[in-house]
Amino acid sequence: MEKYIIKGGKKLSGEVVISGAKNAVVAILPAVILSDEPCVIENIPGISDVTITLQIMSEMGAKIRMINKTTVEIDPRGLMNLPIPYDKAKRMRATTYFLGTLLGRFHSAHVSMPGGCNLGDRPIDQHLKCFAALGTTCELEGGMIHLSADRLIGNQIFFDKNSVGATINGIMAAVKAEGLTIIENAAKEPHVVDLANCLNSMGADIIGAGTDVIKIRGVKSLHGTTYSVIPDQIEAGTYMAVAAATKGDILIKNVIPKHLEPITNKLLKIGVKVEQFDDAVRVVGGEGYVGTSIKTHPHPGFPTDMQPQLSAVLACANGTSMITESIFDNRFRYVDELRRMGANISVEGRVAVIEGVERLKGAPMRATDLRAGAALIVAALGAEGTSEIYDIFHIERGYENMEIKLKALGADIEKIDEPEEPGEESRKAI
Ligand code: EPZ
Repeated sequence: MEKYIIKGGKKLSGEVVISGAKNAVVAILPAVILSDEPCVIENIPGISDVTITLQIMSEMGAKIRMINKTTVEIDPRGLMNLPIPYDKAKRMRATTYFLGTLLGRFHSAHVSMPGGCNLGDRPIDQHLKCFAALGTTCELEGGMIHLSADRLIGNQIFFDKNSVGATINGIMAAVKAEGLTIIENAAKEPHVVDLANCLNSMGADIIGAGTDVIKIRGVKSLHGTTYSVIPDQIEAGTYMAVAAATKGDILIKNVIPKHLEPITNKLLKIGVKVEQFDDAVRVVGGEGYVGTSIKTHPHPGFPTDMQPQLSAVLACANGTSMITESIFDNRFRYVDELRRMGANISVEGRVAVIEGVERLKGAPMRATDLRAGAALIVAALGAEGTSEIYDIFHIERGYENMEIKLKALGADIEKIDEPEEPGEESRKAI
């Protein structure tokens, strides 16, 4: 079992290059299944979610060839519509995207229900509503979702809840359906737009991605493409939080500043300096941040995936901060861990009230999910003394070479491998 050991209190400075976006690539790779020709996907991050996705596709018969560390060629022509069982699906929620892509190509799909989740209830009713609207029947049996459709026929779909996953699955199921599909109350996240752009580069006919209404005119077939994944908005935001928490000076390169606006605005508001360039932001931390309120919201609001990391910064801001988590019903599990460092945070349902303290002190902690783990790293880097962070497999799902990138910024961080703890395997299910 691997853990990080972090000696905090150093001002981090220098440059960090952001990798391809996890939440875009876990959609774009399965989307290649819809193509009648090989595709080349560039700027893929070296994270375990990518490894798991490519492994699943390879075991289904796709030919996978890594052209270099960040570029993969996928030939989906030999892929068979095999079931994706729980033991494969449990490690990554994004296996739900195989529902949309396999349905879109084969008019059927057999994928395990996504496992339990550390963020609270995460139903997929909107995904299933979308598939049904296109003419699909859905059966749940033994924890597996079985989809089948004689024909997929375009339709008008209104999502009762703004859902990234349901929007992405709806697009993938509709791109080769007969006729026009209109998705209303669609998610507008950058990774939704990236998927639509990738599919359009394969010959799909999708307009409106990034707005509330997405129109998809079904096409008969999709051809190959060479497509580069956008930079990761949340990885970039996490390094912005690192600069703030360590009062450092970090140039964060290979970003799309527009995607970072909600994070930049919050950091500016509390007193962090942020300078924007064409494809980079420079973040300079300092003393005496001012507490603030944050309410997470679908894009272009403040991203829920940055809520834990900003809370770790606000733990040492002056005054009171209020964090309202409006997307998930249990995204404060990291708070118990921050309390071990001396943070003064009370949680009531979906609201956390943070009373800023002078300094956090290093402590042993456990990552409970991907972004909670990132928050513990942010806090440990800014804290006095040494911290140990366990269950870092959560973090490595979405951050490429994090300890290497942090070391290059001057962090005192080591990754240590220890004998597996009892129950660790089951904790790997998300
Ligand atoms: C995506 O999850 C991201 N994951 C999450 O990032 C992110 O937190 C989330 O979007 C919100 O931005 C990927 O892109 C792989 P949703 P997703 O469907 O699609 C409810 C990370 O750390 N809902 O937008 O599962 C749901 O319970 C991860 O990178 C329904 O009720 O999120 C939640 O409360 C964590 N019914 C809300 O909607 C549905 O059918 C938003 O969920 C679907 C969702």
